[in-house]
Amino acid sequence: MKLPVDHDADPEGFLRAALLTERHALPYAPGLGVPGLVARRLARAGSRLILDIGCGDGALSAAVAEAFENPPWPARSPDGEPGGLVVGLDGAMALAGLHPGPVVRGDAMALPYADGVFDAAVAINTLCHLADPAAALREARRVLRPGGLFAAATVARADSPELADVWRPSPTAFDAEEAVEIVAGVFGEVEVDRWDLPLIRLPDEDAVRDYLVARGVPHGRAARAARRVDTPVTLTKRGVAVYAIR
Ligand SMILES: C[S@@+](CC[C@H](N)C(=O)[O-])C[C@H]1O[C@@H](n2cnc3c(N)ncnc32)[C@H](O)[C@@H]1O
Repeated sequence: MKLPVDHDADPEGFLRAALLTERHALPYAPGLGVPGLVARRLARAGSRLILDIGCGDGALSAAVAEAFENPPWPARSPDGEPGGLVVGLDGAMALAGLHPGPVVRGDAMALPYADGVFDAAVAINTLCHLADPAAALREARRVLRPGGLFAAATVARADSPELADVWRPSPTAFDAEEAVEIVAGVFGEVEVDRWDLPLIRLPDEDAVRDYLVARGVPHGRAARAARRVDTPVTLTKRGVAVYAIR
């Protein structure tokens, strides 16, 4: 069997970004984290078996356990039946090895599952890593049962505008600016939840540097850029979650 390649070239960078976001989130922001937002939608749908495509270290799994209000994992669905069982799938075991529930190494472009087996399929900040997100969306749709819920979330190119003078995120094939249209092209009708809110406050130059490093900017360049930013700086986070029913 041909094993998929390791897709995350910088798992440590990802973990650093997650920590930094948590540490510097504004007081009202933690409950607004994207995995929490999506988990609450899954709980509302009563999804039982959930595939987390590009699960990373399992942020969705933790959020689902909380949203289904019966931690620790596995949680229960609102009708009391076992629910919220998150199966993680990732191309990079360096991250997925930290996933708290069942996890497989696999490729979003060729999911190792039969048709129609999942109640929900989720891809948070995953499709932006792919050259052909629509092909991965067709795969996600294939493994969903009829009536199953799909959720994707991604960041906008216009994210963190306060840093625009020193940094812009690299464009991807699945930025928030086009994500809705791409998901609708595969699933038809969609439900959209956009955010455009001051969510993170970086207290000093070091935090700005780390924020940039966590987003793939080489250390030296990030340090030079950080010197040009007035701190503390509050960052406006912009992105979108797109939901669809199969
Ligand atoms: C930015 S991380 C997001 C992780 C997690 N969804 C979260 O929100 O915390 C992107 C994840 O997608 C995974 N990934 C990228 N391309 C993939 C592919 N083709 N198949 C499976 N996983 C992939 C990466 O390894 C990484 O763990």
